[in-house]
Amino acid sequence: MKQASVAFIGAGNMASALFGGLIRQGYAPSAIIAADPSLDCLARAADLGIATTQDNGAAIEFAELVILAVKPQALQGVLAPLRDILLRRRPLLLSIAAGVNIQTLQDWSDKSLPIVRCMPNTPALVQAGAAGLFASPQVSDWQRKQAQSILEAVGTAVWLDHEEQLHAVTAVSGSGPAYFFLAMEAMIEAGVKMGLSQSVAEQLTLQTAFGAASMAQHSDVGPAELRHRVSSPGGTTEQAILSFERGGLKQLFADAMGRCAQRSVELARELGTDKSD
Ligand SMILES: NC(=O)c1ccc[n+]([C@@H]2O[C@H](COP(=O)([O-])OP(=O)(O)OC[C@H]3O[C@@H](n4cnc5c(N)ncnc54)[C@H](OP(=O)(O)O)[C@@H]3O)[C@@H](O)[C@H]2O)c1
Repeated sequence: MKQASVAFIGAGNMASALFGGLIRQGYAPSAIIAADPSLDCLARAADLGIATTQDNGAAIEFAELVILAVKPQALQGVLAPLRDILLRRRPLLLSIAAGVNIQTLQDWSDKSLPIVRCMPNTPALVQAGAAGLFASPQVSDWQRKQAQSILEAVGTAVWLDHEEQLHAVTAVSGSGPAYFFLAMEAMIEAGVKMGLSQSVAEQLTLQTAFGAASMAQHSDVGPAELRHRVSSPGGTTEQAILSFERGGLKQLFADAMGRCAQRSVELARELGTDKSD
């Protein structure tokens, strides 16, 4: 597949994870340009052989794909002055900004522009990200493939049928790493209380989290079956699982993720041009 010329507007954490991943996957640095006011961020990009600029307009002048990687609050100020170039060049806009919906992005640029919205997550920084993507009707098949290959350079990317599903994606994978960090934190603390040193409890917990995720990914059965297989009746694991069940763990997850998705809806409303319910 022909590589699209890509401009990153914002060269911070997520952008550097993405362009770093792209280059590791064989993307030509000469096909990428990064724009950011911060000279430090630009220096990191330049170290990878990427062209850099502090001028967003210059960055998008030759791009087929423009990745909007600034904070949501900065996005309106970024898009408004680029409107004329965007209308003339009509690149694909790929926004990774949390909570800014396509209608709002179009209100800040133009409603005819092709836009893909994406919710990535922080493990993208170590090439183990999980992202949900949604495309506006103006996006072509070739542009969908380009957007997908950008996100797949740093992990897994899945397409969604409805933009509203990005709230659920936020609750599952966007915020999901924090749930696993909390579980690891709790396991390390419990291990230490049982007499392990901090470092031993930490090593065992982290490797167990990695091993369980890896097994679940490579197995042809789901996590529920894998759990049954390691919980023999009368055994030790069964006692732990029964205790989690008595504590209502699944309901706790449903409540926590529901609160997360609800906050995502509220933030989208606060950030957006459409304030209606
Ligand atoms: N990090 C995550 O886990 C995560 C997950 C999902 C989605 N996202 C989304 O990814 C986006 C970027 O997040 P991040 O964590 O990478 O933020 P970040 O590290 O702060 O990067 C944003 C960069 O944009 C630059 N910037 C600010 N105004 C700009 C402008 N007018 N033109 C060009 N660049 C400008 C910032 O420069 P200054 O620092 O000098 O202002 C900064 O270097 C956000 O919209 C966020 O919602 C992040």
